[in-house]
Amino acid sequence: MHYKAIIVVGARPNFMKVAPIFTQCKKFHDVTPFLVHTGQHYDKELSKVFFDDLKLPKPDFYLGIGSGTHSEQSGQIMIEFEKILGKLDPDIVIVVGDVNSTLACALATAKFRCGKRKYSPVIAHIEAGLRSHDWRMPEEINRRLTDALADLLFTTEPSGQENLIEEGISSDKIFHVGNVMIDSLLSHKEQAEKSRILNKLKLRKNKYAVLTMHRPGNVDERGDLAGILAALEEISRATEIVFPVHPRTKKMFDRYELKTDFLKTTASLGYLDFLKLLANANFVLTDSGGIQEETTVLKVPCLTLRENTERPVTVSQGTNIIVGKDPDAIVEQARKILSGERKQGQIPDFWDGKAAQRICKIAFNYLKCIVD
Ligand code: UD1
Repeated sequence: MHYKAIIVVGARPNFMKVAPIFTQCKKFHDVTPFLVHTGQHYDKELSKVFFDDLKLPKPDFYLGIGSGTHSEQSGQIMIEFEKILGKLDPDIVIVVGDVNSTLACALATAKFRCGKRKYSPVIAHIEAGLRSHDWRMPEEINRRLTDALADLLFTTEPSGQENLIEEGISSDKIFHVGNVMIDSLLSHKEQAEKSRILNKLKLRKNKYAVLTMHRPGNVDERGDLAGILAALEEISRATEIVFPVHPRTKKMFDRYELKTDFLKTTASLGYLDFLKLLANANFVLTDSGGIQEETTVLKVPCLTLRENTERPVTVSQGTNIIVGKDPDAIVEQARKILSGERKQGQIPDFWDGKAAQRICKIAFNYLKCIVD
């Protein structure tokens, strides 16, 4: 028996999660992987540069969806992805993370199984069970609904399993396998050290902070964004802050005409340059999900500019502190780090570079059981 696996990517945080899965798939001679890129992210700095850095092959199918409202984007992805399902008739569809492409492709697959097929394509969700319990975040909706549709749910941390069980998902479907994003980090760390980005940006190791910020909850309202910027201006009096600016945030800076000249801004960076920047930072300020995990593994203190995290292990075991968006709280926590109060942390179980190996073994054994 030969199996066809579709692996879906759409937005920046997907690429580093999918690269180790794709590499592992290639090792199974009875599996043909097909890479489908929805085109949710399309700019070179948010997409192509990751394919180059991670040595991902050109996608087998590029859906070219682009930006839009959530419903426009998700609906278009479903329409185009359904055509690919019809063309390939896959045995398994693998989706990662929590972006709109994740849910849209899982939903199209779940509906596709209602057709005249002998058996349904299996839906595998990598990074299942994470919950911020904040339904205002589009990612929370994407995660919950994708998990409800998935046949195989691969978790990165203990909270994932607990949340899924609480939601009534059968424990037979849940596998604690570790973190594929950390697989990518560990396999590229040495190569990233060769990046010239610190020279290019005139930075000295451990003498700067890195900022990333793009969540609608932080950047879409003028008041919130101006408050966070005031805190950053205060911190910038004590240390240099480097900020690779996300297109959404850039748009908001322009719209609200906010002053940012106290930050060292750059365009979005590629995977290797950004990894080098993170690994050598004194500390990190972020509203990203994945960066909370990367800093935990790199042992770099991380201040998360959100009220909650769907990745609590980075707080209980790692270097992460949740500070929210209150300017005083942000400044206070940054001062503590600058005065030497640094969380050391430890690396969570199974964040060892072998998550993709575990996932593929489980997923393809499962296929053999149900298909053969
Ligand atoms: C998306 C994900 C978010 C993830 C983030 C990483 C969802 C709901 N959100 O948010 O979880 O953390 O990606 O970057 O899936 N744009 C460009 N070029 C691009 C893509 C977008 O300029 O290649 C601009 C567009 O003007 C767009 C805006 O950025 O309107 C936001 O893009 P979008 O994909 O809607 O959401 P992100 O904020 O990137």
